[in-house]
Amino acid sequence: MQAVNKKINIDDIKVIQAPLAGISDVVFRGLIRKYNSKCLMTTEMISSEMLCNNPNPRIIKFEEFEYPLSFQLVGHKIDKMTKAAQIVAPYASMIDINCGCPVKKVVVSGDGSAMMKTPELACEIVQSIKEATKLPISAKFRLGWTTQEENYIEFAKALEKAGVSFVTLHARTRSQMYQGSADWSKIKLLVDELSIPVFANGDIKTIQDAKKCIEMTGAKGVSIGRGIMGDFTLPYRIEKYIETKEIIPEPDLIQKIEMLKEHLRLEVQHMGEKNGIKFMRKFYNYYISSTRNASKYRSALVTLETEKEILEVLDEILSIHTANI
Ligand SMILES: Cc1cc2nc3c(=O)[nH]c(=O)nc-3n(C[C@H](O)[C@H](O)[C@H](O)COP(=O)(O)O)c2cc1C
Repeated sequence: MQAVNKKINIDDIKVIQAPLAGISDVVFRGLIRKYNSKCLMTTEMISSEMLCNNPNPRIIKFEEFEYPLSFQLVGHKIDKMTKAAQIVAPYASMIDINCGCPVKKVVVSGDGSAMMKTPELACEIVQSIKEATKLPISAKFRLGWTTQEENYIEFAKALEKAGVSFVTLHARTRSQMYQGSADWSKIKLLVDELSIPVFANGDIKTIQDAKKCIEMTGAKGVSIGRGIMGDFTLPYRIEKYIETKEIIPEPDLIQKIEMLKEHLRLEVQHMGEKNGIKFMRKFYNYYISSTRNASKYRSALVTLETEKEILEVLDEILSIHTANI
């Protein structure tokens, strides 16, 4: 890989693309960059064990336009996490430690949100990676394991002491998985306790959400995941709002369908028609949710197997929509 400009100025970061395993690929990040040149991108979580066993260059190869780019590592063994960090360090603007993934197969070995049960270990990992790579480190975590075991403030204070440059709080507990609402009031409590920046995460899907969340919490910025699915302008619009208070309207259905067509075309180019079309099935809901008969169209779209057939359905949605405007 050629040398990339991986320089990062953390003070400038207001919006982070939250890691989305199985969703946020190079095409996804490219479409965010089409509108926003500054936001911090994050890789999907990369297993430190897997990377140490198979340091496949494809796992760590990224395009120039994806930078600034944070590499997110998941794992609980100090030696593997440090080795993995050393492998990605030449390509990483910074490293994020995953202390929030709630999935059973991840937490069962002590990784992801299970790290919140072993704060001393999380701190040792941060210190070891920092020492080995000299890169800025961040951590992304939840409120705690359950509501009764919320320890995000102690956890974050320990990480701050261990040397992280900022933290991202997904304001749900592990046991909530993705249910209920993110409790932004807890983000405020954390902001009040730390000297390093806090990024707010969870349920920020519009400029109004970002505005409300930042006003309520005093967070330095936001980390957005699912809100980007179906609207690649969101990181740009939120960043613009934070910097200038300008509210740029959300794309309408016509613009969203044009975005979907481009997304589809690029994924087919990137993965080939069969895999690209299968992959895109995860996104239709997000793009067309505001159309009448959305579930009928979604059910049809997820069964189609060629790009041409999908484009025909999208054109049908567009023509019915424009006829009814
Ligand atoms: C499909 C999917 C994959 C995710 N993958 C990761 C991941 O690899 N690492 C991580 O820290 N969080 C991951 N998350 C959690 C998100 O980064 C984010 O914390 C969560 O979705 C809440 O933010 P949102 O409401 O803006 O989506 C994932 C979430 C989803 C829905």
